[in-house]
Amino acid sequence: MIAVDAILQELEAALAEAQTPDQVEQVRVRFLGRKGKITLLGKETDFRSLSAEERRQFGSQLNELKRQAEEKIAAALADRRHKATQMAALAARARLDLTLPATDRRLGALHPISLVQMELEAIFEGMGFMVLTGPEVETEYYNFDALNIPPDHPARDMQDTFWLEGGYILRTHTSANQVRALEKYGAPIRAIFPGRCFRYEAMDASHENTFYQLEGLVVDRDISVANLIAVMKALLGEVFGREVTVRLRPGFFPFVEPGFELDQECPFCDGQGCSVCKHTGWIELIPCGLVHPKVLEAGRVDPEKFSGFAFGMGMTRLAMLKFGIPDIRLFNSGDLRFCEQFPVVL
Ligand code: PHE
Repeated sequence: MIAVDAILQELEAALAEAQTPDQVEQVRVRFLGRKGKITLLGKETDFRSLSAEERRQFGSQLNELKRQAEEKIAAALADRRHKATQMAALAARARLDLTLPATDRRLGALHPISLVQMELEAIFEGMGFMVLTGPEVETEYYNFDALNIPPDHPARDMQDTFWLEGGYILRTHTSANQVRALEKYGAPIRAIFPGRCFRYEAMDASHENTFYQLEGLVVDRDISVANLIAVMKALLGEVFGREVTVRLRPGFFPFVEPGFELDQECPFCDGQGCSVCKHTGWIELIPCGLVHPKVLEAGRVDPEKFSGFAFGMGMTRLAMLKFGIPDIRLFNSGDLRFCEQFPVVL
């Protein structure tokens, strides 16, 4: 009565044509939609012209036809959906271009002063020095008086000072830590004091109002200039990775006696003369000297029993030398491009 096989064949042919889930849906509408071929079979047949037996047969044929049609459509739909996901995955893989540069993972960088400080601390720790720090807001006493620089002494003029209220100042040098450390630890002592210092400077390529020093203090029995030179040479040899030639010139600082300027033979031209050493062949690097007896006394250390040496390295200057940085103002510029170019050697 119903040409079940013919209709199913027609459906299969249509499904075979359908490439996508959407096209399968269109086939479904054509056969099972409200005006679909199979749906209409049920609507357009005049049941009154059929016998009860024929009606029953028709009904069961129609149901069977619907069931089989739905089954085939569902299978086709699942198949096309599966293929569609596979195609999408293939397309995505085709878009994956392995020759493109990788996404950049931004790493932080250490400031060149931090790098130099870490290196120096490691070297001094290897020589048995403590690493200590003191306040940046300092008293006049520790910054000047305790270091044999009385109020009316012209040496105060050497360091233009930022004065704060209440007798405080911004420390002009890390030497302010010397007497603090002697008071606290006594003698013998080996310590370094890295830190930030401040001076009321007119800024230019080599002067900053905020800069870093690394102070060193050794007090023990029978400490002489020979010990000072030996420690400085060991230090500079480590920093520059080879033996360096140094010389001492007299230098005046009220808290050392005798006082020196320690120069290093220019590492850039081996003493031949270049723009870095201003064609002198030497670089003025470390002011130093033997600790003045008055400083020891201020620290309650007996100058009859103990002697010592102190030095005040410009850490900012050393960083400029080591990394070839031409302008001191770059350090505090806050420009990340500046910080990011220095190699971390830990
Ligand atoms: N504090 C001195 C300065 O800042 C340097 C110095 C330190 C000199 C220790 C001698 C000994 O100029």
